[in-house]
Amino acid sequence: MNDIKIGLVGLGTVGSSVLKMVTENQDKVQNITGRQLSVKTVVVRNVKKHQDAVSSDIQLTTDLNAIINDPEIKIVVEVMGGVHPAKEVITQLLNAKKHVVTANKDLIASAGEELAALARQNHCDLMYEASVAGGIPILRTIVTSFAADHITEVKGIVNGTTNYILTQMQRQNWSYDQSLQKAQELGFAESDPTNDVEGIDAAYKMIILTQFSYGTHIKLEDMAVEGISTIQLEDVAQADAFGYTIKLLGVSRRIDGGVFAEVGPVLVPKDHPLATINNENNAVMVTGEAVGETLFYGPGAGGLPTANSVLSDIVSVTKNIALGTTGNSFNNFRDELGKVDPAQ
Ligand code: NDP
Ligand code: HSE
Repeated sequence: MNDIKIGLVGLGTVGSSVLKMVTENQDKVQNITGRQLSVKTVVVRNVKKHQDAVSSDIQLTTDLNAIINDPEIKIVVEVMGGVHPAKEVITQLLNAKKHVVTANKDLIASAGEELAALARQNHCDLMYEASVAGGIPILRTIVTSFAADHITEVKGIVNGTTNYILTQMQRQNWSYDQSLQKAQELGFAESDPTNDVEGIDAAYKMIILTQFSYGTHIKLEDMAVEGISTIQLEDVAQADAFGYTIKLLGVSRRIDGGVFAEVGPVLVPKDHPLATINNENNAVMVTGEAVGETLFYGPGAGGLPTANSVLSDIVSVTKNIALGTTGNSFNNFRDELGKVDPAQ
């Protein structure tokens, strides 16, 4: 009765680390939640590819119904990525009264409000700490630690792949292509890295951060978005010679009752804290009227750091199940704060 079974959809960089962390940290989680967590079923595209990586007590399948129709599975982690079919998958899961934890910023930025409403309707939790800045617990921090303050600006480095690429170009003199290839090998990039290098992945994260910071929903079309795919080694070297580092920054600020948000490469003076954030690390600066400027730093991509954020959501959902307080998606909390119209 105290056991909670987990379903996992996706067993790539993040999914395999989630499986590892759930398996290896059972005792710690049980101490905190009073429940024993284990992964029961994993859904992938290609079963053969993963057979050796999964122990025989875990069901490995291509059939989502194996999770949907299993009453023992209460929490499902979606780490397949992309908007479709992930949206249909999460919709089916919520309608089947499964609590959902996801790392999918593409989906949350474009359909988060709709899915949060569906979660509420089904008295389910929908949580997505890992969708922004990988291992940095930034969403939970904004919800809890800035609950009474008025955030005026949130900005920073929120894509690990591009920060890794720019770091290697500056420090190792690696070409853009070579640096991107290495970021892919290390599992930082999306399966199609276009969104990473064109600034769209960072824009999705700024959309979610904007929602959390001001309760305002902006769309990709509301933002100016530029990536780093045209940046050459010479640009990086020239910036360096003049005392600057090129960083892909996302900015969202309250202006005149509205919100302005953009993503693009910026020349950052080398003595600025954001210039010192290297490799796949991210940093998010949150400015509040009361607290002033704060900075949160940590790994922005990679299996285990991201899995740690997923596990923090799993633990929250487990506590909610134990207390009978499910149906509290992150978004519900911010909805109560009211809306601010996005500035054009
Ligand atoms: P991967 O590409 O490494 O893994 C994706 C997994 O999903 C694979 O196991 C794949 O199965 C499975 N999958 C894909 N499509 C389907 C489908 N239609 N049905 C069933 N299974 C499917 O992705 P990541 O682990 O890197 O990323 C997962 C999610 O986490 C994404 O939303 C990403 O944006 C997010 N994220 C990633 C981070 C990272 O550092 N990588 C950090 C933070 C968030 P198969 O192996 O059989 O092909
Ligand atoms: N591809 C993403 C990045 C993964 O590089 O930041 C983390 O969201």
